[in-house]
Amino acid sequence: MVETVKPAILIPEPNRRVPRHVAIIMDGNGRWAKQRHRPRTHGHREGVKSVRAVVEESVRQGVGTLTLFAFSSENWQRPRSEVNILMELFISALRDEVHRLIENDVRLRVIGELSAFPEKLQHGIRDAEALTANNAALNLQVAANYGGRWDITRAARALVADVLAGRLDQAAIDEQAFAQRLSFPDLPEPDLFIRTGGERRLSNFVLWQSAYAELYFTDVLWPDFDEEAFRHALDDFARRQRRFGRTSEQVDARAAVRAYGRG
Ligand code: IPE
Ligand code: IPE
Ligand code: MG
Repeated sequence: MVETVKPAILIPEPNRRVPRHVAIIMDGNGRWAKQRHRPRTHGHREGVKSVRAVVEESVRQGVGTLTLFAFSSENWQRPRSEVNILMELFISALRDEVHRLIENDVRLRVIGELSAFPEKLQHGIRDAEALTANNAALNLQVAANYGGRWDITRAARALVADVLAGRLDQAAIDEQAFAQRLSFPDLPEPDLFIRTGGERRLSNFVLWQSAYAELYFTDVLWPDFDEEAFRHALDDFARRQRRFGRTSEQVDARAAVRAYGRG
């Protein structure tokens, strides 16, 4: 009897589903440094290499938008010395990385309450955003002093202001009107939500926008999260069936129609 060899790759490359938007909680820098008996800030510095790797792999894979959680609204509670070094690291990373973003056709935007940052950092952000404003291969969003609840509360305030000013009818408040007042209303919502570093929580990251994101948790610490680790996450995403409330059979039928037409 002749054994037939089954093809190892089940998902043909041309049909491989790539997330339009990936959001990542870059966690585990401190533990990575601790394992090496180094200060936590050493882990943050090493983490910049992973940012570079994931940004460039996103461009290669055709991910349209990448949102990276760099500093949460809760991270101010860390020791002052760590916060200061993180601020310096942002400033130097913006200065040193912008040419690579331009080379890779990456547009940078920073989301969050930026007014709390040192003036120098705010300048650096505005400059890097302006220098990359016309780039189109990838929308890179860095979330800094960001919180999902901050984002939602701000949208609620904007709705109230628009109603009081007569720009919006109260009866017209719906999910779409709300979503339009959140950060990045012009970009698709995250399809894939990754957290490195082993914790399985959302830590107040893009809450509203991730309502239907596929969640991917890995124990890999952020400084070790390289191109290969990122591709694993993308492969995992490609194998998932997203149902959005429908049944599995309905989703399969729709996929068949898309692949083969209506007959
Ligand atoms: C994530 O790594 C980076 C920031 C929050 C700025 P951590 O600093 O949280 O690393 P762990 O979780 O302590 O290992
Ligand atoms: C979330 O990580 C924030 C960032 C990665 C920037 P944290 O390490 O601050 O989250 P918790 O405190 O473990 O929830
Ligand atoms: Mg952490």
